[in-house]
Amino acid sequence: MSEIRLDRFISERTEYTRSQIKILASKGKITVNGIISRKSDFKINPETDCINVLGNEIKAGRFRYILMNKPSGYICSTEENDGISVMNLIPSEMRTKNMFPAGRLDKDSLGALLITDDGRLAHRILSPEKHIPKIYIVKLARPFQSKYVNLFDGGIILSDGTHCLPARVKCAENNDNLAFIQLNEGKYHQVKRMFAAVGNHVEKLMRVSVGGLILPEKLGFGKCMELLHKDVENLFSPLDFDTFCNDFFGIFSAFLINK
Ligand code: URA
Repeated sequence: MSEIRLDRFISERTEYTRSQIKILASKGKITVNGIISRKSDFKINPETDCINVLGNEIKAGRFRYILMNKPSGYICSTEENDGISVMNLIPSEMRTKNMFPAGRLDKDSLGALLITDDGRLAHRILSPEKHIPKIYIVKLARPFQSKYVNLFDGGIILSDGTHCLPARVKCAENNDNLAFIQLNEGKYHQVKRMFAAVGNHVEKLMRVSVGGLILPEKLGFGKCMELLHKDVENLFSPLDFDTFCNDFFGIFSAFLINK
């Protein structure tokens, strides 16, 4: 790949404008292969040079992928019409101009949210035909009933007549009001409406996995992490629901109990 200007490389991969990059460079906040570069028009090789802004490496790859642990109170949109967008929570050095949330969580929902500028990947995840499974943990207003397992497995019908695909659900061993549910589709308010259809009510909801990608325990609410290429590929390797429940119930139930 031919050489390009440092400011172009950074502005195409972050939210910084060229004038901001010029100021950062003049303050010694940008390094190329570990050496401070005070000139923003410095020529770099995007394939071989290692660029750091404020100590964060800017990856050469064309697209960026971020996993956020969404907190309550933010909306999954790039617009701010109905509330504060999750986009405000992304640190500048991780953010690019064309990023958007690849999926929706309600304003009061928590957990795993993928944000990217890769439209093709987002389409693969969101496309109804792909059936990327997503696992949620819910806190219910009333105790879980064992009949939910067969009702959800049979494909429940919502109050407005919408048919859902078969879904797996499992109650926590030590808490009747906590359950994991795995969906293979993403209808509007689907988890809440499914539990409403069986006479219960979801008080809290947290998405804990998307495809084979599991929300890391250490990623606090409102925090973001950049995904590696192999993590992104993991999205398309589904998890075994029973193994997941056994391995992760303790960890994720603590999130909902303490919040
Ligand atoms: N289902 C819901 O009801 N809400 C969400 O945020 C996600 C799935």
